[in-house]
Order: sequence, then structure tokens, then C-alpha cells
Amino acid sequence: EKGTYPHYMLKEVDEQPAVIRKIIQAYQNEEGKLAIDYSITEAVSEADRIYIIACGTSYHAGLIGKQFIEKMTEIPVEVHVASEFTYNMPLLSKKPLFIFISQSGETADSRAVLVSIKALGHKALTITNVPGSTLSREADYTLLLHAGPEIAVASTKAYTAQVAVLSILANVTGHFRNLEYDFDLVKELGIVATAMEALCDSKEEMEAIAHEYLSVTRNCFFIGRSLDYYVVLEGALKLKEISYIQAEGFAGGELKHGTIALIEEGTPVIALATQAGVNLSIRGNVKEVVARGAKPCIISMKGLEEEDDRFVIPEVHELLTPLISVIPMQLIAYYAALHRECDVDKPRNLAKSVTVE
Ligand code: M6R
Repeated sequence: EKGTYPHYMLKEVDEQPAVIRKIIQAYQNEEGKLAIDYSITEAVSEADRIYIIACGTSYHAGLIGKQFIEKMTEIPVEVHVASEFTYNMPLLSKKPLFIFISQSGETADSRAVLVSIKALGHKALTITNVPGSTLSREADYTLLLHAGPEIAVASTKAYTAQVAVLSILANVTGHFRNLEYDFDLVKELGIVATAMEALCDSKEEMEAIAHEYLSVTRNCFFIGRSLDYYVVLEGALKLKEISYIQAEGFAGGELKHGTIALIEEGTPVIALATQAGVNLSIRGNVKEVVARGAKPCIISMKGLEEEDDRFVIPEVHELLTPLISVIPMQLIAYYAALHRECDVDKPRNLAKSVTVE
């Protein structure tokens, strides 16, 4: 039930801090250490390459999961859009492990890949919100998201749950492989949950941004580098899905290779700047688009902020920024859709779970 909320999407955005806390609890053992089923840790640990398969928002979570897994476990990871994998199956490694990420566990494109890799005798782990779903039943292993039912078509809390569970999977597997990534993940996820609360309390600021930048525009660009790049892909998907504004996410460095030609006087460009290592370069990209007339909206992280930034998110561990920087993206999309009188929870032409290929 959406209770006093006008839309499920807003309620689900607000549930994110509680979901993160629930995930921490669900994946802790009696000693308070993060733990997952031994057979899963072993299966991931023994793989010589991991193939993440997903669609839409879950694919964006997978892109971030790749960074976690490679950094913490030293196992190479490929991330594939499920529909394309079916036609262009890459050359597989000798001991692959497949990870399917799917909120619903019913996505037909992902299932088609699961069926084909099972036929080849490979092992699969499904990360899903729905116990007993098709992808869960047909895989060898399941990790649950514990996000509670997600009703709005636009995925919000399932995305952050996916990213959080992937961080735990990577962390636990890293320890299993005796690789000590310098990281107290329980503590850091706790900091994330608190930061999420602060962001959920910033609705007025988000509404003001949506109003100022998106109430009349026909298009909007999102830019970011490093982990921020994956988050802007998600920000653009959220915006186009519910507000019908043509929105695209780009890697800051790619702009000059074509996209910058689209920048006109007044084009909104939302830039994420949460990564210290690329802070100067993303700000350089903002200058480039401003010089061509763009209207910039920089969302940065505390410690990296500059005077003209439109919004500053609280500081969290550099690897975990996607968990919180996505919340402004979700809320900006929400308020843009609201201003444009779109059906926020049930956008046109879309279904919550896509059960056709
Ligand atoms: O249930 P799944 O996670 O497999 O769904 C995948 C996509 O259809 C889904 O994430 C879609 O992109 C969302 N509506 C985006 O908000």
C-alpha cells in the first residue's frame, strides 16, 4: 500500500535507507560479519571469469557490480545486456560463472540466456527480489535483495539493493580468497543508509532542480566519469522512462567524440562529480558544454564541491557513491514527470516485468 504517498515511486525511493539496513542484517552472521551461503562464495571464488547478465536498470547495477567484484576478488567480469548476449555470445572462459540480476526474476531476455548457458552446462547465480521467481528457480544459486515489493514501473529501491548485495558478494568473496580490500563494509553501508536519509529529506531541492531545468526542455544530457558514468546512465533511463524527456547519459570523455554537437543554448546538462580521481576532468567537461551554451547542473560530493555546484551529496566511501548519488537522479526524474503530468507509476508503453523477448 502506498499509504500517504501520492505515488509508489516516491514511497519506494524513501524506503531505500531501510532496505540497506535490512540487507546488512540479512547478510550478517552471528558474529556480525558479512556472510553469504558457503556454496555461493565457493562457486564465485572458483570462477575464472564472471558474466553478469541483466536488462535496463539491473544492467546498470551490474556495471557497478563489475567494479566491486574486480577490485575485491580479482576475478575478471563482463557485463552484458541480456537481449544482445543471445545473438552475440562471447567466447566463454574455461570456468565461467553467470550472475543474473533481475528485480522481478521474470525477465524473458535474461531467462533466454539462462536457458542457453544451462544447456552448455554452466552454473548460474540469480540476484533477485522475488523468491521462487523463474530466474531464481532455474539457477543453481539465489541471493535475495530484501527490498520488499517494488510496484512502480521505474525501479529505485531494487537498484540500490542490487548494488548493495553486489558489494557484499564481492566483499565476502574477496575475504574467502584472502584478499584484504581495506574496507569495513558493514560500517560503510551504515554510513550510506544515513546519507540516504539526508537525501530523501532533500525533496524540495530536487523539485526545484526539476522545475528549473526540466519543466520545458525536450532533452537533457547526463555526464559522469568512472563510477559516476554508470550512475548517469541510470539517471538518464529514469528520466526518459517516466517524464518522456529525451535523456542520454555519457562518459564525460566521450562528449568531444560526437555528442557535444548536440549542445545548444540552454540544453540542460546534469553532471555527477563524486569521484576524486576524475573531479578535475569532469569539471573540465562541464566547462566545455557551458562554452557551447549548456545550462549545467553539477551534483558533487562533500569534500569535492565547488562554489557553483547545484547540490552536494553527503560523503560516503568512494566505491559506494552510486548508492546515494542515484537518489537525486531518481527524485529529479520523479518531479520532472510530476510537473509534466505524466503517469509516474505506470509510464506509457512499459510493463513492470518484461516477459516477452
Ligand atoms: O525485473 P528486472 O530487473 O529483470 O527488469 C529489468 C528491466 O526491465 C527494468 O530494470 C527496467 O529497465 C526498469 N523499468 C527501469 O526503471
